[in-house]
Amino acid sequence: MASAAPESDIEHVLLTEQQLDSRLTAIAAQIDADYAGCDLLLVGVLKGAVMVMADLSRRITHPVTMDWMAVSSYGSGTKSSGVVRILKDLDSDLHGRHVLVVEDIIDSGLTLSWLVANLRSRGAASVEIAAMLRKPDAAKVEVDVRYVGFDIPNEFVVGYGLDYDEHYRNLPYVGTLKSSVYSS
Ligand code: PRP
Repeated sequence: MASAAPESDIEHVLLTEQQLDSRLTAIAAQIDADYAGCDLLLVGVLKGAVMVMADLSRRITHPVTMDWMAVSSYGSGTKSSGVVRILKDLDSDLHGRHVLVVEDIIDSGLTLSWLVANLRSRGAASVEIAAMLRKPDAAKVEVDVRYVGFDIPNEFVVGYGLDYDEHYRNLPYVGTLKSSVYSS
C-alpha cells in the first residue's frame, strides 16, 4: 500500500526532474525542426502521458493541437496484459493529419503497436511516436519510435505520470519502489 509520504516509498531515483527536463527540451527542438510547416496533432495516451504531454507541448514552439485517448493495457498490477481496449476515443478527425502519439512508457510495446495501426487506419497523413521511457528488454513487439526520452532497465518504475495502483503519478522524477510497497 502507498504510504502517506510517497517519497519514502521510493527505493532508487532513476531519472531526476532535471534529466527529464533537459531531455524534453531537446526532443521538443527536434519536433519543431521535423514538423516545420506541418499541422501537427499531439495525441496523449491517458493517464500516464499527462505529465510528458504537458511538459513537451509547452516546449514546442510550433502551433499544435492536442487530443487524448484512453486505452487499457494493464490492470492494477505490474505486468502488461496484452489486451488493448479503447476507453476514451479521440474527438479529432485524423484524415490527412500529422499525428504524434505522446506516451510515458513503452514496456512490451503491445499498446503502441496496436494504437499506431489503429490511428493509421483512420487516414492520418503520418503517425509517429514520442515516448519518455522505453524498456528495450521488455519488448514483445517491435515498435518504431521516432523520439525516445530514455531507455531504462526492465524494472517497474513510478513517477512522472507512471503509477502503481494509481499512486505516485505526481512524483516529479522516475524511480523504483521499495519491495515493502508491493508486499503490504
Ligand atoms: C501504460 C503506459 C502505456 C502502456 C505501455 O499505460 O502508459 O500506455 O502501459 O505498456 P506496453 O508497452 O506493455 O503496452 P497503463 O495501461 O498502465 O495506463 P495508465 O497510462 O492509465 O497508467
